[in-house]
Amino acid sequence: MHKDIIRLLRIANIFFKARIDLLIKEYSSSNWNLVFFFSPWQFFSSSLPRGERLVVALEEAGPIFIKFGQLLSTRPDIIPADIAKSLSRLQDNLKPFSSDEAKKIITNELNKPIQEIFSSFEDKPIAAASIAQVHKAKLRKSNEEVVVKVVRPGIEKIIFRDISLMKRIARFIENRFSEAKRLRLLDLVMEYETVINSELDMRIESSNMKQTKIHFEENDLLHVPKVYLELTTKKVLTMERISGIPIDNISMLEKKGVNLQLLAERGVEIFLKQVFIDNFFHADMHPGNIFVNIEDPSNPSYVAVDYAIVGTLKEEEQFQIGRMLMSVVQRNFKEIATIMIDVKWVNPSSNPIELERTIRVACEPVFEQPMEKIKFGELLLDIFESARSFDLNMQPSLMLLQKTLINIEGLGKQLFPKLDFWSIADPFLQNWITERYDPSKITEWAQSNAIHWIEKARKLPETAESALNQLNKLEQYNRDSEDRHTELMAKVLREQRTVYLALVTIMIGLGVSFWFFR
Ligand SMILES: Nc1ncnc2c1ncn2[C@@H]1O[C@H](COP(=O)(O)OP(=O)(O)O)[C@@H](O)[C@H]1O
Ligand SMILES: [Mg+2]
Repeated sequence: MHKDIIRLLRIANIFFKARIDLLIKEYSSSNWNLVFFFSPWQFFSSSLPRGERLVVALEEAGPIFIKFGQLLSTRPDIIPADIAKSLSRLQDNLKPFSSDEAKKIITNELNKPIQEIFSSFEDKPIAAASIAQVHKAKLRKSNEEVVVKVVRPGIEKIIFRDISLMKRIARFIENRFSEAKRLRLLDLVMEYETVINSELDMRIESSNMKQTKIHFEENDLLHVPKVYLELTTKKVLTMERISGIPIDNISMLEKKGVNLQLLAERGVEIFLKQVFIDNFFHADMHPGNIFVNIEDPSNPSYVAVDYAIVGTLKEEEQFQIGRMLMSVVQRNFKEIATIMIDVKWVNPSSNPIELERTIRVACEPVFEQPMEKIKFGELLLDIFESARSFDLNMQPSLMLLQKTLINIEGLGKQLFPKLDFWSIADPFLQNWITERYDPSKITEWAQSNAIHWIEKARKLPETAESALNQLNKLEQYNRDSEDRHTELMAKVLREQRTVYLALVTIMIGLGVSFWFFR
Protein backbone atom coordinates (compact mmCIF):
# COMPACT_ATOMS: atom_id res chain seq x y z
CA MET A 1 0.00 0.00 0.00
CA HIS A 2 2.71 2.38 1.04
CA LYS A 3 4.66 1.46 -2.12
CA ASP A 4 1.54 2.23 -4.15
CA ILE A 5 1.36 5.70 -2.69
CA ILE A 6 4.99 6.37 -3.48
CA ARG A 7 4.42 5.21 -7.07
CA LEU A 8 1.31 7.39 -7.30
CA LEU A 9 3.23 10.42 -6.10
CA ARG A 10 6.05 9.68 -8.50
CA ILE A 11 3.69 9.42 -11.44
CA ALA A 12 1.84 12.55 -10.37
CA ASN A 13 5.15 14.38 -10.20
CA ILE A 14 6.13 13.19 -13.70
CA PHE A 15 2.84 14.31 -15.18
CA PHE A 16 2.76 17.66 -13.43
CA LYS A 17 6.38 18.32 -14.36
CA ALA A 18 5.44 17.84 -17.98
CA ARG A 19 2.54 20.26 -17.30
CA ILE A 20 -0.17 17.76 -18.20
CA ASP A 21 -2.36 19.74 -15.80
CA LEU A 22 -2.61 22.33 -18.59
CA LEU A 23 -4.16 19.65 -20.76
CA ILE A 24 -6.67 18.71 -18.06
CA LYS A 25 -7.52 22.38 -17.71
CA GLU A 26 -8.44 22.56 -21.38
CA TYR A 27 -11.19 20.08 -20.66
CA SER A 28 -12.36 21.74 -17.51
CA SER A 29 -13.80 25.01 -16.39
CA SER A 30 -14.12 24.03 -12.76
CA ASN A 31 -12.57 25.80 -9.81
CA TRP A 32 -9.73 23.30 -9.81
CA ASN A 33 -7.95 25.85 -11.96
CA LEU A 34 -7.28 27.73 -8.78
CA VAL A 35 -5.63 24.69 -7.22
CA PHE A 36 -3.47 24.24 -10.28
CA PHE A 37 -2.59 27.92 -10.12
CA PHE A 38 -1.09 27.50 -6.68
CA SER A 39 0.67 24.25 -7.45
CA PRO A 40 4.48 24.27 -7.29
CA TRP A 41 4.67 22.84 -10.82
CA GLN A 42 3.42 26.20 -11.97
CA PHE A 43 7.07 27.23 -11.92
CA PHE A 44 8.08 24.59 -14.39
CA SER A 45 7.26 25.80 -17.80
CA SER A 46 7.58 23.75 -20.91
CA SER A 47 7.95 25.10 -24.38
CA LEU A 48 7.04 21.75 -25.94
CA PRO A 49 3.68 21.32 -27.68
CA ARG A 50 1.06 19.45 -25.62
CA GLY A 51 1.45 16.12 -27.45
CA GLU A 52 5.20 16.14 -26.96
CA ARG A 53 4.80 16.94 -23.26
CA LEU A 54 2.56 13.90 -22.93
CA VAL A 55 5.14 11.75 -24.74
CA VAL A 56 7.88 12.89 -22.34
CA ALA A 57 5.69 12.06 -19.34
CA LEU A 58 4.62 8.63 -20.62
CA GLU A 59 8.21 7.68 -21.45
CA GLU A 60 9.33 8.63 -17.99
CA ALA A 61 6.43 6.76 -16.38
CA GLY A 62 7.57 3.47 -17.92
CA PRO A 63 6.68 0.79 -20.47
CA ILE A 64 3.10 0.17 -19.36
CA PHE A 65 2.35 3.86 -19.79
CA ILE A 66 4.18 3.91 -23.13
CA LYS A 67 1.97 1.13 -24.44
CA PHE A 68 -1.06 2.97 -23.13
CA GLY A 69 0.08 6.02 -25.12
CA GLN A 70 0.30 3.84 -28.23
CA LEU A 71 -3.27 2.71 -27.71
CA LEU A 72 -4.40 6.28 -27.10
CA SER A 73 -2.79 7.34 -30.38
CA THR A 74 -5.33 5.23 -32.27
CA ARG A 75 -8.40 6.83 -30.68
CA PRO A 76 -9.56 9.86 -32.65
CA ASP A 77 -12.78 9.72 -30.66
CA ILE A 78 -10.83 10.55 -27.52
CA ILE A 79 -7.84 12.67 -28.40
CA PRO A 80 -7.26 15.38 -30.97
CA ALA A 81 -5.12 14.72 -34.04
CA ASP A 82 -2.04 16.69 -32.93
CA ILE A 83 -1.70 14.65 -29.72
CA ALA A 84 -2.37 11.39 -31.58
CA LYS A 85 0.43 12.19 -34.00
CA SER A 86 2.94 12.74 -31.21
CA LEU A 87 1.84 9.60 -29.37
CA SER A 88 2.10 7.38 -32.44
CA ARG A 89 5.88 7.83 -32.30
CA LEU A 90 6.17 6.13 -28.91
CA GLN A 91 8.49 3.15 -29.12
CA ASP A 92 8.10 0.01 -27.10
CA ASN A 93 11.81 -1.02 -27.02
CA LEU A 94 13.32 -2.02 -23.74
CA LYS A 95 16.60 -3.18 -22.28
CA PRO A 96 16.65 -6.97 -22.59
CA PHE A 97 16.58 -9.16 -19.49
CA SER A 98 19.45 -11.66 -19.10
CA SER A 99 19.45 -14.81 -21.17
CA ASP A 100 20.04 -16.80 -17.97
CA GLU A 101 16.71 -15.60 -16.75
CA ALA A 102 15.10 -16.43 -20.09
CA LYS A 103 16.53 -19.95 -19.90
CA LYS A 104 15.34 -20.37 -16.33
CA ILE A 105 11.81 -19.43 -17.35
CA ILE A 106 11.89 -21.82 -20.32
CA THR A 107 13.15 -24.69 -18.15
CA ASN A 108 10.50 -24.04 -15.53
CA GLU A 109 7.70 -23.71 -18.04
CA LEU A 110 8.63 -26.72 -20.16
CA ASN A 111 9.79 -28.85 -17.26
CA LYS A 112 12.96 -29.95 -19.02
CA PRO A 113 16.59 -28.86 -19.03
CA ILE A 114 17.11 -26.43 -21.85
CA GLN A 115 19.93 -28.51 -23.43
CA GLU A 116 17.49 -31.32 -23.95
CA ILE A 117 15.18 -29.14 -26.00
CA PHE A 118 17.58 -26.98 -27.99
CA SER A 119 20.92 -27.82 -29.55
CA SER A 120 21.68 -24.11 -29.61
CA PHE A 121 20.19 -21.04 -27.97
CA GLU A 122 21.39 -17.52 -28.77
CA ASP A 123 21.97 -15.47 -25.65
CA LYS A 124 21.49 -12.14 -27.35
CA PRO A 125 17.79 -11.61 -28.07
CA ILE A 126 16.73 -10.36 -31.51
CA ALA A 127 14.16 -8.07 -29.93
CA ALA A 128 13.15 -6.93 -26.46
CA ALA A 129 9.93 -5.12 -25.70
CA SER A 130 7.94 -4.43 -22.56
CA ILE A 131 6.09 -7.74 -22.46
CA ALA A 132 8.49 -10.24 -24.00
CA GLN A 133 11.78 -10.84 -25.75
CA VAL A 134 12.67 -13.11 -28.63
CA HIS A 135 15.67 -15.50 -28.87
CA LYS A 136 16.90 -17.58 -31.77
CA ALA A 137 17.34 -21.31 -31.10
CA LYS A 138 17.60 -24.69 -32.82
CA LEU A 139 15.58 -27.76 -31.89
CA ARG A 140 17.70 -30.72 -30.79
CA LYS A 141 15.27 -33.32 -32.09
CA SER A 142 14.69 -32.10 -35.62
CA ASN A 143 17.40 -29.51 -36.17
CA GLU A 144 14.69 -27.00 -37.10
CA GLU A 145 15.45 -23.32 -36.63
CA VAL A 146 13.06 -21.63 -34.25
CA VAL A 147 12.56 -18.50 -32.21
CA VAL A 148 11.45 -18.52 -28.61
CA LYS A 149 9.39 -15.63 -27.29
CA VAL A 150 9.73 -15.40 -23.51
CA VAL A 151 7.56 -13.24 -21.27
CA ARG A 152 9.52 -10.71 -19.22
CA PRO A 153 9.92 -11.89 -15.60
CA GLY A 154 7.86 -9.99 -13.06
CA ILE A 155 5.99 -8.03 -15.73
CA GLU A 156 2.61 -9.29 -14.51
CA LYS A 157 3.08 -7.50 -11.19
CA ILE A 158 4.19 -4.29 -12.85
CA ILE A 159 1.18 -4.38 -15.15
CA PHE A 160 -1.16 -4.98 -12.25
CA ARG A 161 0.41 -2.14 -10.25
CA ASP A 162 0.42 0.37 -13.10
CA ILE A 163 -3.05 -0.48 -14.37
CA SER A 164 -4.52 -0.09 -10.87
CA LEU A 165 -2.80 3.26 -10.70
CA MET A 166 -4.14 4.29 -14.10
CA LYS A 167 -7.64 3.32 -12.99
CA ARG A 168 -7.26 5.51 -9.94
CA ILE A 169 -6.06 8.44 -12.00
CA ALA A 170 -8.84 7.92 -14.56
CA ARG A 171 -11.48 7.78 -11.81
CA PHE A 172 -10.06 10.89 -10.21
CA ILE A 173 -10.14 12.84 -13.47
CA GLU A 174 -13.65 11.64 -14.37
CA ASN A 175 -15.06 12.47 -10.94
CA ARG A 176 -13.46 15.88 -10.58
CA PHE A 177 -13.75 17.28 -14.07
CA SER A 178 -17.21 16.80 -15.42
CA GLU A 179 -16.19 17.81 -18.95
CA ALA A 180 -13.57 15.07 -18.93
CA LYS A 181 -16.26 12.39 -18.50
CA ARG A 182 -16.78 12.49 -22.23
CA LEU A 183 -13.27 11.07 -22.64
CA ARG A 184 -14.36 7.82 -20.93
CA LEU A 185 -10.84 7.38 -19.59
CA LEU A 186 -11.80 4.60 -17.22
CA ASP A 187 -13.33 2.57 -20.05
CA LEU A 188 -10.20 3.12 -22.04
CA VAL A 189 -7.98 1.88 -19.21
CA MET A 190 -10.16 -1.23 -18.85
CA GLU A 191 -9.94 -1.87 -22.57
CA TYR A 192 -6.17 -1.51 -22.32
CA GLU A 193 -6.13 -3.98 -19.45
CA THR A 194 -7.83 -6.58 -21.65
CA VAL A 195 -5.40 -6.01 -24.51
CA ILE A 196 -2.29 -6.11 -22.36
CA ASN A 197 -3.46 -9.21 -20.50
CA SER A 198 -3.94 -11.07 -23.75
CA GLU A 199 -0.44 -10.04 -24.83
CA LEU A 200 0.80 -11.50 -21.58
CA ASP A 201 -0.47 -14.98 -22.36
CA MET A 202 1.48 -16.63 -25.17
CA ARG A 203 -1.25 -19.26 -25.56
CA ILE A 204 -3.57 -16.55 -26.86
CA GLU A 205 -1.01 -15.48 -29.45
CA SER A 206 -0.44 -19.09 -30.43
CA SER A 207 -4.15 -19.69 -30.85
CA ASN A 208 -4.48 -16.54 -32.98
CA MET A 209 -1.65 -17.79 -35.16
CA LYS A 210 -3.35 -21.12 -35.63
CA GLN A 211 -6.61 -19.46 -36.59
CA THR A 212 -4.92 -17.19 -39.14
CA LYS A 213 -3.00 -20.13 -40.55
CA ILE A 214 -6.28 -21.95 -41.18
CA HIS A 215 -7.66 -18.91 -43.02
CA PHE A 216 -4.62 -18.79 -45.29
CA GLU A 217 -4.35 -22.50 -45.92
CA GLU A 218 -5.56 -22.24 -49.48
CA ASN A 219 -4.20 -18.80 -50.13
CA ASP A 220 -0.48 -18.30 -50.23
CA LEU A 221 -0.46 -14.52 -49.90
CA LEU A 222 0.40 -14.75 -46.20
CA HIS A 223 2.61 -17.19 -44.39
CA VAL A 224 2.05 -17.67 -40.66
CA PRO A 225 4.97 -19.24 -38.74
CA LYS A 226 4.30 -22.74 -37.45
CA VAL A 227 3.87 -22.94 -33.67
CA TYR A 228 5.39 -25.79 -31.67
CA LEU A 229 2.53 -26.39 -29.30
CA GLU A 230 4.42 -28.88 -27.16
CA LEU A 231 6.99 -26.12 -26.51
CA THR A 232 4.45 -23.39 -25.88
CA THR A 233 3.01 -22.36 -22.53
CA LYS A 234 1.62 -19.22 -20.96
CA LYS A 235 5.07 -17.65 -20.77
CA VAL A 236 6.91 -19.27 -23.66
CA LEU A 237 6.08 -19.38 -27.36
CA THR A 238 8.23 -21.49 -29.66
CA MET A 239 7.72 -21.05 -33.37
CA GLU A 240 9.31 -21.56 -36.75
CA ARG A 241 12.04 -19.03 -37.46
CA ILE A 242 11.11 -17.18 -40.57
CA SER A 243 13.51 -15.55 -42.93
CA GLY A 244 12.49 -12.78 -45.19
CA ILE A 245 13.26 -9.18 -45.89
CA PRO A 246 11.77 -6.67 -43.46
CA ILE A 247 9.09 -4.86 -45.41
CA ASP A 248 10.55 -1.44 -44.75
CA ASN A 249 13.90 -2.39 -46.26
CA ILE A 250 12.77 -1.10 -49.65
CA SER A 251 16.25 -0.72 -51.11
CA MET A 252 16.90 -4.42 -50.51
CA LEU A 253 13.55 -5.37 -52.01
CA GLU A 254 14.39 -3.27 -55.07
CA LYS A 255 17.84 -4.82 -55.33
CA LYS A 256 16.31 -8.28 -55.36
CA GLY A 257 13.98 -7.24 -58.16
CA VAL A 258 10.77 -7.68 -56.17
CA ASN A 259 7.58 -6.65 -57.94
CA LEU A 260 6.72 -3.83 -55.56
CA GLN A 261 3.37 -2.96 -57.12
CA LEU A 262 2.16 -6.53 -56.74
CA LEU A 263 3.48 -6.66 -53.20
CA ALA A 264 1.66 -3.45 -52.26
CA GLU A 265 -1.58 -4.63 -53.83
CA ARG A 266 -1.35 -7.99 -52.11
CA GLY A 267 -1.11 -6.20 -48.78
CA VAL A 268 -4.48 -4.61 -49.48
CA GLU A 269 -5.92 -7.96 -50.58
CA ILE A 270 -4.79 -9.60 -47.34
CA PHE A 271 -6.37 -6.79 -45.36
CA LEU A 272 -9.69 -7.04 -47.21
CA LYS A 273 -9.79 -10.83 -46.90
CA GLN A 274 -9.04 -10.71 -43.18
CA VAL A 275 -11.61 -8.02 -42.46
CA PHE A 276 -14.49 -9.00 -44.70
CA ILE A 277 -14.17 -12.73 -45.27
CA ASP A 278 -12.30 -14.19 -42.29
CA ASN A 279 -13.52 -11.54 -39.85
CA PHE A 280 -10.25 -12.04 -37.97
CA PHE A 281 -7.57 -9.51 -38.68
CA HIS A 282 -4.00 -9.05 -37.56
CA ALA A 283 -4.27 -5.70 -35.82
CA ASP A 284 -0.60 -4.92 -35.24
CA MET A 285 0.50 -4.52 -38.84
CA HIS A 286 3.45 -2.22 -38.30
CA PRO A 287 6.63 -2.72 -40.37
CA GLY A 288 8.52 -4.46 -37.52
CA ASN A 289 6.08 -7.36 -37.71
CA ILE A 290 6.03 -7.87 -41.49
CA PHE A 291 8.52 -9.60 -43.75
CA VAL A 292 8.58 -10.43 -47.45
CA ASN A 293 9.18 -13.86 -48.87
CA ILE A 294 11.19 -13.33 -52.05
CA GLU A 295 11.82 -16.91 -53.18
CA ASP A 296 10.22 -15.78 -56.42
CA PRO A 297 10.71 -11.97 -56.64
CA SER A 298 8.05 -11.66 -59.33
CA ASN A 299 5.56 -13.39 -57.05
CA PRO A 300 6.30 -11.97 -53.58
CA SER A 301 4.26 -12.89 -50.52
CA TYR A 302 3.96 -11.78 -46.92
CA VAL A 303 5.15 -13.27 -43.68
CA ALA A 304 3.76 -11.74 -40.51
CA VAL A 305 4.66 -12.26 -36.85
CA ASP A 306 3.19 -10.93 -33.58
CA TYR A 307 -0.45 -12.04 -33.46
CA ALA A 308 -1.16 -10.91 -29.91
CA ILE A 309 -3.65 -8.30 -31.05
CA VAL A 310 -6.32 -9.38 -33.49
CA GLY A 311 -9.63 -7.77 -34.32
CA THR A 312 -13.07 -9.05 -35.21
CA LEU A 313 -16.14 -7.02 -36.08
CA LYS A 314 -19.79 -7.60 -35.40
CA GLU A 315 -21.68 -8.56 -38.53
CA GLU A 316 -23.48 -5.23 -38.46
CA GLU A 317 -20.20 -3.28 -38.17
CA GLN A 318 -18.64 -5.30 -40.95
CA PHE A 319 -21.51 -4.40 -43.25
CA GLN A 320 -21.55 -0.74 -42.24
CA ILE A 321 -17.79 -0.39 -42.71
CA GLY A 322 -18.16 -1.84 -46.20
CA ARG A 323 -20.98 0.59 -46.92
CA MET A 324 -19.00 3.43 -45.43
CA LEU A 325 -15.94 2.73 -47.61
CA MET A 326 -18.14 2.68 -50.68
CA SER A 327 -19.85 5.93 -49.70
CA VAL A 328 -16.50 7.61 -49.11
CA VAL A 329 -15.29 6.82 -52.58
CA GLN A 330 -18.59 7.87 -54.12
CA ARG A 331 -18.28 11.11 -52.12
CA ASN A 332 -21.74 10.45 -50.79
CA PHE A 333 -21.44 12.54 -47.64
CA LYS A 334 -25.13 12.26 -46.86
CA GLU A 335 -24.88 8.49 -46.76
CA ILE A 336 -21.79 8.66 -44.53
CA ALA A 337 -23.66 10.89 -42.08
CA THR A 338 -26.67 8.56 -42.13
CA ILE A 339 -24.52 5.50 -41.45
CA MET A 340 -22.72 7.19 -38.58
CA ILE A 341 -26.00 8.19 -36.97
CA ASP A 342 -27.74 4.85 -37.66
CA VAL A 343 -25.01 2.78 -36.08
CA LYS A 344 -24.65 5.25 -33.23
CA TRP A 345 -21.00 6.05 -33.88
CA VAL A 346 -22.13 9.59 -33.14
CA ASN A 347 -24.91 10.82 -30.91
CA PRO A 348 -28.10 9.40 -32.50
CA SER A 349 -29.90 12.71 -32.04
CA SER A 350 -27.31 14.57 -34.13
CA ASN A 351 -28.57 16.73 -36.93
CA PRO A 352 -27.82 14.74 -40.12
CA ILE A 353 -27.52 17.84 -42.28
CA GLU A 354 -24.98 19.42 -39.97
CA LEU A 355 -23.01 16.20 -39.73
CA GLU A 356 -23.06 15.86 -43.51
CA ARG A 357 -21.75 19.42 -43.85
CA THR A 358 -18.97 18.79 -41.34
CA ILE A 359 -17.87 15.63 -43.12
CA ARG A 360 -17.96 17.41 -46.47
CA VAL A 361 -15.69 20.16 -45.15
CA ALA A 362 -13.22 17.56 -43.88
CA CYS A 363 -13.21 15.52 -47.09
CA GLU A 364 -13.33 18.11 -49.82
CA PRO A 365 -9.69 19.24 -49.69
CA VAL A 366 -8.63 15.59 -49.83
CA PHE A 367 -10.71 14.97 -52.94
CA GLU A 368 -9.00 17.90 -54.66
CA GLN A 369 -6.04 15.57 -55.12
CA PRO A 370 -5.75 12.90 -57.79
CA MET A 371 -7.20 9.53 -56.71
CA GLU A 372 -3.80 7.85 -56.46
CA LYS A 373 -2.64 10.39 -53.89
CA ILE A 374 -5.58 9.80 -51.57
CA LYS A 375 -5.01 7.66 -48.52
CA PHE A 376 -8.33 6.10 -47.57
CA GLY A 377 -7.32 5.14 -44.07
CA GLU A 378 -6.35 8.71 -43.30
CA LEU A 379 -9.45 10.02 -44.99
CA LEU A 380 -11.61 7.81 -42.75
CA LEU A 381 -9.65 9.10 -39.79
CA ASP A 382 -10.31 12.70 -40.92
CA ILE A 383 -14.01 11.88 -41.11
CA PHE A 384 -14.05 10.41 -37.60
CA GLU A 385 -11.95 13.27 -36.30
CA SER A 386 -14.37 15.81 -37.81
CA ALA A 387 -17.28 14.04 -36.10
CA ARG A 388 -15.78 14.43 -32.63
CA SER A 389 -18.08 17.31 -31.82
CA PHE A 390 -21.04 14.98 -32.47
CA ASP A 391 -20.03 12.80 -29.49
CA LEU A 392 -18.07 10.35 -31.56
CA ASN A 393 -18.11 7.02 -29.75
CA MET A 394 -16.64 4.04 -31.51
CA GLN A 395 -16.07 0.44 -30.61
CA PRO A 396 -12.41 -0.47 -29.95
CA SER A 397 -12.55 -3.08 -32.72
CA LEU A 398 -13.36 -0.35 -35.23
CA MET A 399 -10.44 1.67 -34.05
CA LEU A 400 -8.18 -1.34 -34.53
CA LEU A 401 -9.51 -1.67 -38.04
CA GLN A 402 -8.91 1.98 -38.73
CA LYS A 403 -5.33 1.72 -37.50
CA THR A 404 -4.71 -1.44 -39.53
CA LEU A 405 -6.03 0.19 -42.68
CA ILE A 406 -3.72 3.16 -42.16
CA ASN A 407 -0.75 0.84 -41.61
CA ILE A 408 -1.47 -1.33 -44.65
CA GLU A 409 -2.07 1.60 -46.92
CA GLY A 410 0.94 3.51 -45.59
CA LEU A 411 3.18 0.50 -46.14
CA GLY A 412 1.71 -0.07 -49.58
CA LYS A 413 2.28 3.54 -50.62
CA GLN A 414 5.87 3.32 -49.44
CA LEU A 415 6.40 0.26 -51.61
CA PHE A 416 4.50 1.62 -54.56
CA PRO A 417 3.50 5.30 -54.31
CA LYS A 418 0.82 4.98 -56.98
CA LEU A 419 -1.00 2.23 -55.09
CA ASP A 420 -4.71 2.78 -55.67
CA PHE A 421 -6.45 1.26 -52.70
CA TRP A 422 -9.84 1.77 -54.19
CA SER A 423 -9.20 -0.04 -57.47
CA ILE A 424 -8.68 -3.20 -55.38
CA ALA A 425 -11.28 -2.58 -52.71
CA ASP A 426 -14.13 -1.61 -55.05
CA PRO A 427 -14.47 -4.89 -57.00
CA PHE A 428 -13.79 -6.80 -53.80
CA LEU A 429 -16.58 -5.08 -51.87
CA GLN A 430 -19.04 -5.27 -54.76
CA ASN A 431 -18.42 -8.97 -54.93
CA TRP A 432 -18.64 -9.34 -51.17
CA ILE A 433 -22.01 -7.61 -51.01
CA THR A 434 -23.42 -9.67 -53.89
CA GLU A 435 -22.24 -12.93 -52.36
CA ARG A 436 -23.40 -12.07 -48.92
CA TYR A 437 -26.90 -11.14 -49.94
CA ASP A 438 -27.31 -13.93 -52.44
CA PRO A 439 -30.74 -15.61 -51.83
CA SER A 440 -29.21 -19.04 -51.31
CA LYS A 441 -26.97 -17.59 -48.61
CA ILE A 442 -30.02 -16.14 -46.90
CA THR A 443 -31.60 -19.59 -46.67
CA GLU A 444 -28.35 -20.85 -45.16
CA TRP A 445 -28.44 -18.00 -42.69
CA ALA A 446 -32.03 -18.75 -41.74
CA GLN A 447 -31.17 -22.36 -41.15
CA SER A 448 -28.21 -21.62 -38.96
CA ASN A 449 -30.24 -19.13 -36.95
CA ALA A 450 -33.27 -21.34 -36.39
CA ILE A 451 -32.04 -22.41 -32.94
CA HIS A 452 -31.78 -18.80 -31.89
CA TRP A 453 -35.38 -18.14 -32.97
CA ILE A 454 -36.71 -21.20 -31.18
CA GLU A 455 -34.88 -20.17 -28.03
CA LYS A 456 -36.44 -16.71 -28.24
CA ALA A 457 -39.86 -18.20 -28.92
CA ARG A 458 -39.55 -20.51 -25.93
CA LYS A 459 -39.11 -17.55 -23.64
CA LEU A 460 -41.89 -15.60 -25.27
CA PRO A 461 -44.89 -16.80 -23.22
CA GLU A 462 -43.20 -15.66 -19.98
CA THR A 463 -42.13 -12.37 -21.49
CA ALA A 464 -45.57 -11.75 -22.90
CA GLU A 465 -47.26 -12.71 -19.65
CA SER A 466 -45.09 -10.42 -17.60
CA ALA A 467 -45.60 -7.61 -20.08
CA LEU A 468 -49.37 -8.07 -19.97
CA ASN A 469 -49.32 -8.24 -16.16
CA GLN A 470 -47.50 -4.99 -16.05
CA LEU A 471 -49.95 -3.46 -18.45
CA ASN A 472 -52.81 -4.65 -16.23
CA LYS A 473 -51.20 -3.08 -13.22
CA LEU A 474 -50.78 0.12 -15.09
CA GLU A 475 -54.45 -0.02 -16.00
CA GLN A 476 -55.47 -0.43 -12.33
CA TYR A 477 -53.25 2.33 -11.15
CA ASN A 478 -54.66 4.77 -13.59
CA ARG A 479 -58.33 4.28 -12.75
CA ASP A 480 -57.95 7.20 -10.33
CA SER A 481 -57.67 9.82 -12.92
CA GLU A 482 -60.25 9.98 -15.68
CA ASP A 483 -58.16 12.04 -18.09
CA ARG A 484 -54.92 10.25 -17.62
CA HIS A 485 -56.85 7.02 -17.77
CA THR A 486 -58.05 7.57 -21.33
CA GLU A 487 -54.63 8.71 -22.41
CA LEU A 488 -52.90 5.78 -20.81
CA MET A 489 -55.43 3.28 -22.07
CA ALA A 490 -54.57 4.34 -25.58
CA LYS A 491 -50.94 3.71 -24.73
CA VAL A 492 -51.80 0.37 -23.14
CA LEU A 493 -53.66 -0.62 -26.27
CA ARG A 494 -50.73 0.41 -28.41
CA GLU A 495 -48.36 -1.57 -26.27
CA GLN A 496 -50.68 -4.56 -26.26
CA ARG A 497 -50.71 -4.38 -30.00
CA THR A 498 -46.92 -4.37 -29.99
CA VAL A 499 -46.86 -7.44 -27.77
CA TYR A 500 -49.32 -9.26 -30.05
CA LEU A 501 -47.34 -8.20 -33.08
CA ALA A 502 -44.15 -9.53 -31.49
CA LEU A 503 -45.99 -12.76 -30.67
CA VAL A 504 -47.16 -13.17 -34.23
CA THR A 505 -43.69 -12.39 -35.62
CA ILE A 506 -42.00 -14.90 -33.38
CA MET A 507 -44.65 -17.52 -34.15
CA ILE A 508 -43.99 -17.03 -37.84
CA GLY A 509 -40.24 -17.28 -37.13
CA LEU A 510 -40.90 -20.47 -35.20
CA GLY A 511 -42.92 -21.88 -38.07
CA VAL A 512 -40.22 -21.02 -40.59
CA SER A 513 -37.51 -22.56 -38.48
CA PHE A 514 -39.49 -25.78 -37.97
CA TRP A 515 -39.96 -25.89 -41.70
CA PHE A 516 -36.21 -25.69 -42.18
CA PHE A 517 -35.60 -28.38 -39.60
CA ARG A 518 -37.99 -30.93 -41.08
N1 LIG B 1 9.09 -16.38 -36.11
C1 LIG B 1 10.02 -15.43 -36.16
N2 LIG B 1 11.09 -15.57 -36.96
C2 LIG B 1 12.03 -14.60 -37.03
N3 LIG B 1 11.98 -13.45 -36.34
C3 LIG B 1 10.94 -13.26 -35.51
C4 LIG B 1 9.91 -14.23 -35.38
N4 LIG B 1 9.00 -13.77 -34.50
C5 LIG B 1 9.45 -12.57 -34.10
N5 LIG B 1 10.61 -12.24 -34.70
C6 LIG B 1 11.38 -10.99 -34.54
O1 LIG B 1 11.26 -10.55 -33.20
C7 LIG B 1 10.63 -9.26 -33.17
C8 LIG B 1 9.72 -9.17 -31.96
O2 LIG B 1 8.73 -10.18 -32.02
P1 LIG B 1 7.20 -9.83 -31.80
O3 LIG B 1 6.43 -11.08 -31.83
O4 LIG B 1 6.82 -8.77 -32.76
O5 LIG B 1 7.26 -9.28 -30.33
P2 LIG B 1 6.61 -7.97 -29.68
O6 LIG B 1 5.24 -8.38 -29.30
O7 LIG B 1 7.49 -7.72 -28.53
O8 LIG B 1 6.64 -6.90 -30.73
C9 LIG B 1 9.91 -9.16 -34.48
O9 LIG B 1 9.75 -7.83 -34.85
C10 LIG B 1 10.82 -9.91 -35.41
O10 LIG B 1 11.88 -9.09 -35.85
MG1 LIG C 1 6.13 -6.81 -32.74
